[in-house]
Amino acid sequence: MKLQYIKESLENSGLKDVIYYSQLHSTNKYAKENNIESDNLIITPYQYEGRGRFNRIWESLEGDNLTFSIVKSFKINTKNVFIVNFYISYIVLKAIKEIFPDYMQYNFTLKWPNDLLLKNKKFGGILSELINVKDDEKKFIIGVGINVNQRDFSENISKKATSLRKETGIIFELEELLIRIVKEFYANINLLNDTDKILNLWKSNSQIINKEVKFRKTADNIEINGKIINVESDGGIKIETVDEFNNKKYSVYYTGEISFIY
Ligand code: BTN
Repeated sequence: MKLQYIKESLENSGLKDVIYYSQLHSTNKYAKENNIESDNLIITPYQYEGRGRFNRIWESLEGDNLTFSIVKSFKINTKNVFIVNFYISYIVLKAIKEIFPDYMQYNFTLKWPNDLLLKNKKFGGILSELINVKDDEKKFIIGVGINVNQRDFSENISKKATSLRKETGIIFELEELLIRIVKEFYANINLLNDTDKILNLWKSNSQIINKEVKFRKTADNIEINGKIINVESDGGIKIETVDEFNNKKYSVYYTGEISFIY
């Protein structure tokens, strides 16, 4: 990776420094273990123990993709911390869409809570971790994984996973993509004070409302069939289910996973 070029390009962005390793277990884990300060970015072309939500493995072929973490501290009310996930997924999608003048043809969308989809397959995910929930100034480790130039995926994920290259045929410069994302992240940072606005921006990039889905609250393995009614103002997802007597019931969930029923 052209580390010097990345650093120079991001000099006035708001980012302090870029920490680079040619390989690393996980950029999130590194930031946590080394108590990395706010406004630093950790990046590696080879993450050999990358983790996703629910502690799943995040697979990424060496040199093909972006795997990085941004450390960011800011004042935010505990009830609003959920918005960080929505913010970063919106920002990453915005940065990517801006590369494509004709992005409409590609169908980039966001899926609750923070998946990035291209033609309904996942090409990116976010794992943000809050370090100090009790302090006024909260520190987040925002981990971003984007499948960029990878062409093949292991059998168990190949039906659901894709990359930018796989769907568009374009080979991307990882550095350019990273620089765009970080610039967007800082240029829009004040949005974090306006949760409604972020949610509206997020929703306008998502196509989940009214979709029939399977919902898994992974922790206790309940799977339900239902229809997505809304993403509520507190980030929860409102799902409509119908029981055997045809009664409709509405529930709001704050964690879990949805998959579309086509
Ligand atoms: C998910 O969709 O489940 C989230 C995936 C997040 C992966 C990124 S890659 C960089 C950072 N380090 C990790 O170990 N995970 C995140």
